[in-house]
Amino acid sequence: MTEPLRPGDPVTLRIARRDGASDPAPRHETYVVPYAPRMRILDALEHANEWLGADVAYRWFCGSRRCGQCAVRVNGEEKLACWEPAEPSMTIEPLQNFPLVRDLVIDRDPYEGRLRALAPYIDRGATPYPGFPEPLPEMQDVNALGECVECLICDSACPVVAAGDRTFPGPATLVQLGRFVLDVRDRSDVRRLPLTEAQVAGCAACRACEPLCPSRVPIVSGAVVAIGKRIQAAAGADHPGSSRTGRPLHSGNA
Ligand code: SF4
Ligand code: SF4
Ligand code: FES
Repeated sequence: MTEPLRPGDPVTLRIARRDGASDPAPRHETYVVPYAPRMRILDALEHANEWLGADVAYRWFCGSRRCGQCAVRVNGEEKLACWEPAEPSMTIEPLQNFPLVRDLVIDRDPYEGRLRALAPYIDRGATPYPGFPEPLPEMQDVNALGECVECLICDSACPVVAAGDRTFPGPATLVQLGRFVLDVRDRSDVRRLPLTEAQVAGCAACRACEPLCPSRVPIVSGAVVAIGKRIQAAAGADHPGSSRTGRPLHSGNA
């Protein structure tokens, strides 16, 4: 077992440096910073920039596990830099499966684009707003998905996304989609569900994403499988005994 760090102990950072537009491969630069009580990964990066002139590019905003902007990979595992403690030796790299802007900053546009394409808002259709207060039963599962901070850690860890399957939007998008598809107020089944079915069917149900989620979102059972069941229920209403495409959904694996 590793000894706990004490104030002043060396913390070694091996940071991936690369300009996404011009460098074909990253190089790694090493910085050693002194440990301070309650030091987080982000604090170590801040020290390297402020005191050692590292000039590393990274993102953060809230510093308190709410904005999801600071996610990086540390020693091969995705973490929120503002939330996880510094370790004695850390190889720090950007999230996988996204284009790189520079160093630890990824381009979030592919995710934002997928989200826009899936129409992530409540569509009441022809059902009028009943007025305030609106009774909202069965919202527990949707609320669990609402804990997502859009850090994209799950997309970085997903082997199907890594394999480049363009029909699979990735777990982060499906979690956001689940917030609306599973909401009892949403009436967009006809428009949205056929599109959605093809996309949830790409999930391999490997659960590589879920243990890494900093918000403990039930990504597989709460989003992927729940959307699949919702699609099957809607398809059953249209064609009893079959899904819309006849393809299996993953509710049995999770
Ligand atoms: S589901 Fe979890 S890991 Fe995925 S984007 Fe949301 S908060 Fe991050
Ligand atoms: S369970 Fe599905 S979404 Fe999660 S990592 Fe595996 S394939 Fe990706
Ligand atoms: S800086 Fe907002 S979650 Fe880390």
